Amino acid sequence: MSFDYAPFFRADLPPAAVRWSGFPEYNFVGGHNDADGVPVEALATALTNVMQRDGKRLATYGMGYGALGYGPLRDSIAAMLEARAGMATDPDNILITTGSLQGLDLVNGALLAPGDTVIVEDVSYGGALSRMRGLGVDYVGITVDEDGMRMDHLAEVLAAQKQNGVRPKYIYTIPTVQNPSGTVLTVQRRRDLLDLAVEYGVPIFEDDCYADLLWDGERPATIRSMDQTGQVIYCGSFSKSIAPALRIGYVVADWPVLSRIIPLKSDGGCGALEQMALAEYCPSQFDGHVDELQTLLRGKCTVMVNALEEQFGAAAEFSAPKGGIFIWVTLPETVDTDQLAKAAAAQGVLINPGSEWSADADSGRRRLRLCFGHPSHETIRGGVARLAEICHAEFGVPVRGANVER
Ligand SMILES: Cc1ncc(COP(=O)(O)O)c(C=O)c1O
Repeated sequence: MSFDYAPFFRADLPPAAVRWSGFPEYNFVGGHNDADGVPVEALATALTNVMQRDGKRLATYGMGYGALGYGPLRDSIAAMLEARAGMATDPDNILITTGSLQGLDLVNGALLAPGDTVIVEDVSYGGALSRMRGLGVDYVGITVDEDGMRMDHLAEVLAAQKQNGVRPKYIYTIPTVQNPSGTVLTVQRRRDLLDLAVEYGVPIFEDDCYADLLWDGERPATIRSMDQTGQVIYCGSFSKSIAPALRIGYVVADWPVLSRIIPLKSDGGCGALEQMALAEYCPSQFDGHVDELQTLLRGKCTVMVNALEEQFGAAAEFSAPKGGIFIWVTLPETVDTDQLAKAAAAQGVLINPGSEWSADADSGRRRLRLCFGHPSHETIRGGVARLAEICHAEFGVPVRGANVER
């Protein structure tokens, strides 16, 4: 008999965790990266070198750099943001976080209260939407087309909110390789978005964790780089560009905002070893690494696109993403991807049902997100084939038959 903790747990805890039982055979969820794309040797060498030089800093919380994080890492992030994203940044405006998820939690912690309203893209990162729901925050979705968030719709919604006396707490956007649509917000729309945000006095929260993985077209300047007044809070991450298990992300904001966020970061600082390794590695090797990673991921994306075309034919509608690690697929109306996800999980295929990645869950009911960053080419082909079989068994889609073109 074990002690019964049930009466002691807080009443509003989330549902209990399920014990980890390993990845399924076909895992198309989660922002995992290509295993061969992790620069293991170079990171190990970087860590050895930096530890030999600077390791005694581990004796203090914050390594002697205060709450913002390891100084040389903030310097190298600032240099990369300037060179790669056209964003001149003071390293003292950068806060290192435990992945960008901690960045989301900190920004939410500083800005959001139950009953608040936030504006999001109508398809958006499930982890951001679930956090908002958990905080009792309402979100309003703005239509995303092939060029990202539509500014005519945003203007309409902001005007309507204002008329109802609502000033949204922020506009959350993933402008570059949007999650899940894979779209890139055009430069003109970035300017229009900032203009609208200024007109209505609403902050922008720019989540840019996929921008380094853009392979189709030039990376547009960040929205924050266009902002003169500190209205845009920016967050980035090394999860997608190097490795998610490092758990290193960052928030970029002006001091009036950072100074209110820092007191909420009560973890005593992020892990020192990963900060030090990245600081040593990035200045000389990040650009070359990311070029190689893009080639790997682009190859997997092509395999995924071909597998979908082969297995689902016209039943699967999608646009090949412009970068990143996932593809957003729409199936015929008769398909319910919540049901499909359950049936597929039972047969070793994990997918993200569209309802969890849509501001309006119902509108995502026939959509799904498939991540291709981690699985091998063979696994992608095998998994999509099995998914098509399961979908056919559940919904008769895709249509099968000797003389039916798929
Ligand atoms: C848009 C977006 N933001 C933030 C995150 C969190 O990433 P991490 O905490 O690993 O940096 C993810 C992960 O998939 C994401 O897709």
